[in-house]
Amino acid sequence: MLKTAVMVSGGGTNLQAILDGIRDGVITNAEVVAVISNNKKAYALERARQAGIPSVCITRKDYPEPEKFDRALLKALRESGAELVVLAGCLVVIDESIVKAYPNRIINIHPALIPSFCGTGYYGLKVHEEALKRGVKVTGATVHFVDGGTDTGPILLQKAVEVKQGDTPRELQLRVMEEAEWVILPKAIDLIANGRVEVRDGKALIL
Ligand code: GRF
Repeated sequence: MLKTAVMVSGGGTNLQAILDGIRDGVITNAEVVAVISNNKKAYALERARQAGIPSVCITRKDYPEPEKFDRALLKALRESGAELVVLAGCLVVIDESIVKAYPNRIINIHPALIPSFCGTGYYGLKVHEEALKRGVKVTGATVHFVDGGTDTGPILLQKAVEVKQGDTPRELQLRVMEEAEWVILPKAIDLIANGRVEVRDGKALIL
């Protein structure tokens, strides 16, 4: 059983998709052992509580010094026994010390088709605002492994979503979440939990 820790910052709809995926058998061989939030007000924490999953808050307010914040995060991950770390709507930049502790064992969901609309400053609604500004006809979501950069690690899964004329950023965000994020993130965890993923020469292969 792959012990999975989920890091969150907000509403937790991606966390919910993971929990529902385990309940419904879309994800096998995995369990969520901890939810870690950098935001005490994150509704994701309520979702964890309702699912009976231990959660911990590690905030910049409690750990103003960056290295102490990163150390607290790494300690919480280690104490959870996590073998896979999933960034699900997580706005924390993961420090190199944590990436090194979990080589090719941290995945992130990004609400665009990387390498489009990604990198520093591209998160949440901003991603969809930029996609609409550029006038793309197709966008989507990406699950990728986390390396030392921002949205730069090996891509594991992507799913395309149609941009409809007249979409507002919020309408597009919801469609990307429903049709892409909540589908490929559970699928990615299931593939990893069942030993069907290998990172070779910087590329994520599905076996
Ligand atoms: C979503 O736009 C997701 O793509 C991004 O964070 C936002 C909130 O996610 N990663 P969640 O509802 O907290 O899972």
